[in-house]
Amino acid sequence: MNKIKLTLGAPPQQLDAVELDTGKNEQWRDLWDGPLRNENVTNVNDLVATLRPECKNLLVIGIGGSSLGIKAIQNALLDSNWNFLPHDKRNGPRLFVLDNIDPAITSSTFDLIKTDDPHLKHTVVCVISKSGETIEIAANLMVALRELSTATFVAITGESGSLINFANENSWKTLLIPNGVGGRFSVLSPVGLFPAAMCGVDIVALLDGAKQMSADCESTSNIAAALATYLIGHAVENKTTQVMMPYCVGLTNLSHWWVQLWSESLGKINEHGVRVGPTPIVAVGATDQHSMLQLWREGPADKVIGFIRVERGDDISLGDKTISQNINLLCNKTMREVLHAELEATTQAVSDAAQPTWTLTLSQVDAHTIGQFFALWEITTAIAGGLLKVNPYDQPGVELGKMLTANKLR
Ligand code: PA5
Repeated sequence: MNKIKLTLGAPPQQLDAVELDTGKNEQWRDLWDGPLRNENVTNVNDLVATLRPECKNLLVIGIGGSSLGIKAIQNALLDSNWNFLPHDKRNGPRLFVLDNIDPAITSSTFDLIKTDDPHLKHTVVCVISKSGETIEIAANLMVALRELSTATFVAITGESGSLINFANENSWKTLLIPNGVGGRFSVLSPVGLFPAAMCGVDIVALLDGAKQMSADCESTSNIAAALATYLIGHAVENKTTQVMMPYCVGLTNLSHWWVQLWSESLGKINEHGVRVGPTPIVAVGATDQHSMLQLWREGPADKVIGFIRVERGDDISLGDKTISQNINLLCNKTMREVLHAELEATTQAVSDAAQPTWTLTLSQVDAHTIGQFFALWEITTAIAGGLLKVNPYDQPGVELGKMLTANKLR
């Protein structure tokens, strides 16, 4: 049964149906079903079986599509206290993700690992880069090779290029990012599966969730088509700021994963020479009600606000002792009840202010629903690319940024 439900607000004008691109760049659709899935799961599980028993610290070095997926999985599926639990209380290693070149973060992460594991016998460094030549990844790797030289290194990369060559020369373990799977569509390849499996995440459930969503999207209740038509329809009517607001702190990084997918895939010059693409924004409920809601209510009506609601999960009773009669309404409520009331109130506040809304309701946060979420947005993005007449699979702006950075450093 589909554990994600979509509710849409005021509709935009109707858009033409699109032919889906099933060309060579769409191999990401094979990640959750068939021979490619089986090959990836076997390769990941084989490597995890050799490394996990002795591993206490797993350091992932990546950026963009090579790190946002595992950060989303970490935030959603590993307890937020995961890295603070003692080794015997965790179902896998501590997970550190370095996806920036802030010297303070890199050195404090390395110090933390070296304090815990001075000889680095229990430390795995996993370098993820499809091209193998991204500056930020290369910079962190250079420091890691010097500071963590006795750790075990793993490379997850494309089948040719600098990183695979270096890994092979140094007898590192390697996993391949399949051809035709771009960075931001790669979370369900070894890019996300290997670190997730190292930390005990059920990768079969992740892939099964994605497979089910994909099958559902081929049926008449294609929620990806409904979402894409809704969001792009509103974008062409100048509702170009599009917010994802989970009422669940653990889904914050999932929203940041979506930001990359939505902006890098859709922010393009389209086939008519027009610059298009909605601007995605992350907000977190209920916190950002006390930050952005005022703007959404009375600022420009140029937004679509999306909510993520989680039906079940941890909950806390508030009890019956309040500090004043004015807040007696909280008595005997649970924290989740209050959170749901806040979500419904914000939905009403913004839709009454001419900002259309959508809500995705997850029955609960688990590997299956997170897998569904990944597939849903990848399929939605592919359809949105067709509606906007852009190629969702290239990123000339990102490539230009990489080239200009290299020029500055020469
Ligand atoms: O989605 C993308 O293609 C990008 O965000 C890349 O993932 C990012 O630039 C890192 O590139 P690479 O994995 O080649 O090092």
